Amino acid sequence: MLEVKNVSKVYGEGTAKVVALNNISLLVNEGDFIAVMGPSGSGKSTLLNIIGGLDHISSGEVILDGKRIDGLDENALVDVRRGKIAYVFQQYHLIPSLTALENVLLPLTFCGANNGSQKALAILKRVGLEKRAEHKPSQLSGGEQQRVAIARALVNDPSLILADEPTGNMDRKTGKEILALFGQLNREGRSIVMVTHDPEIAGYAGEVVVLQDGQIVDKISQKGGNKC
Ligand SMILES: Nc1ncnc2c1ncn2[C@@H]1O[C@H](COP(=O)(O)OP(=O)(O)O)[C@@H](O)[C@H]1O
Ligand SMILES: [Mg+2]
Repeated sequence: MLEVKNVSKVYGEGTAKVVALNNISLLVNEGDFIAVMGPSGSGKSTLLNIIGGLDHISSGEVILDGKRIDGLDENALVDVRRGKIAYVFQQYHLIPSLTALENVLLPLTFCGANNGSQKALAILKRVGLEKRAEHKPSQLSGGEQQRVAIARALVNDPSLILADEPTGNMDRKTGKEILALFGQLNREGRSIVMVTHDPEIAGYAGEVVVLQDGQIVDKISQKGGNKC
């Protein structure tokens, strides 16, 4: 469904030049669960941003469902992503002044839909938070906030979920609960690309991609991944 082909990404110029991605190729098929690992600064977030069409590439191709999306302008990219790709971040990125329900509703509002409350509530229930719908992010634990962020990601029914260290701010037990949720979403047929530092978490993925200095140095296929 998504292919990154010989992609390089260079930030800055001259002495400030940083090669964040160096000729990377990666295929994400329907239903894949790919873990991206590698040291800090190896290009993991840049790769995720490029898969999600959030950042422009310096060279190469990004192909989504048979169409090149690199080079599209912001508006076109928003259209391409809608309903297909959703993001989950380490820092949740919820809006502090809105309730859990309102945060989940936000992408629907952007799409011009009304009557989204029922749908948003159903999704909050799905992530086990129906009783927290009226709570603000500051009244929720880290794990609960991440569940709200996942609910928000699900509201447009994406086929690909990109997650950048989604369990990075949690204790191990909460991280495993969040991971179990990603496992369920994957078993529904959604593709997941997840950046993680935790080898145990990566163990749940079907494939582990290891980055170093902007290059893929290892691809490990794991039969029997996604045990959560
Ligand atoms: N906006 C930017 N401007 C300049 N350099 C950047 C920018 N974003 C990332 N980089 C650099 O690109 C490299 C890869 O960064 P990143 O993808 O964030 O790595 P990771 O997520 O693996 O820690 C790093 O050297 C980082 O400093
Ligand atoms: Mg990063």
